[in-house]
Amino acid sequence: MPRFITLEGIDGCGKSTQAKLLAEDLERAGYDVLLLREPGGVTISEKIRELLLDPAHAAMSDTCELLLYEAARAQLVHEVVAPALAQGRIVVCDRFYDSTTAYQGYANGMDLGAVQRANALAVGACHPDLTLVFDIDPAKAAARAAARDRAQDRMEAKGLAYQERVAAGFRAIAAAESERVRLVDASRGIDAIHADVRALVLGQ
Ligand code: TMP
Repeated sequence: MPRFITLEGIDGCGKSTQAKLLAEDLERAGYDVLLLREPGGVTISEKIRELLLDPAHAAMSDTCELLLYEAARAQLVHEVVAPALAQGRIVVCDRFYDSTTAYQGYANGMDLGAVQRANALAVGACHPDLTLVFDIDPAKAAARAAARDRAQDRMEAKGLAYQERVAAGFRAIAAAESERVRLVDASRGIDAIHADVRALVLGQ
């Protein structure tokens, strides 16, 4: 049974819904589960999230963006992920360092080695045991995201071509780390996707 599970994918892929359903499944199965999101999850990291997603911050440089995501992650790992894993809890995290590799590395075009070193610095020894990447056509995901009752944040405003580079990045990560990272076809309905998630995590 994986102890640290992360869910990844482009904006509008449906992973947050699946993260909640998975956490409920695990609780019903008797596990002590902590459901977190990135960037965020603790006070300092939620404040960094506001800086990152504020559409008024269009002038943010790629390096500033990278380091803010890593700062938010370092604090979340320090305050809750590492202690929870040490206590034997299961941690389900809606996004983790593969988002940085896909968005800041593949989509922004930053040096992938530098991004990986920044990821390593932020997480120390806390690496996911299992990562599910929710794979969906970016145009379909954009339609889903547009149906939400809120304005676009700074990342969503980067547009469809950007999301296509992110999606390609996630596929490249899944291909390179096929033991840890599994692709889930997220173009289907919630129940069909949930059945795959259950099978991958709980083996049922
Ligand atoms: P969310 O909408 O899934 O909560 O994620 C917030 C946004 O931040 C989303 O557009 C993806 C982006 N993101 C990165 O670009 N790099 C990262 O490392 C993380 C965790 C999120």
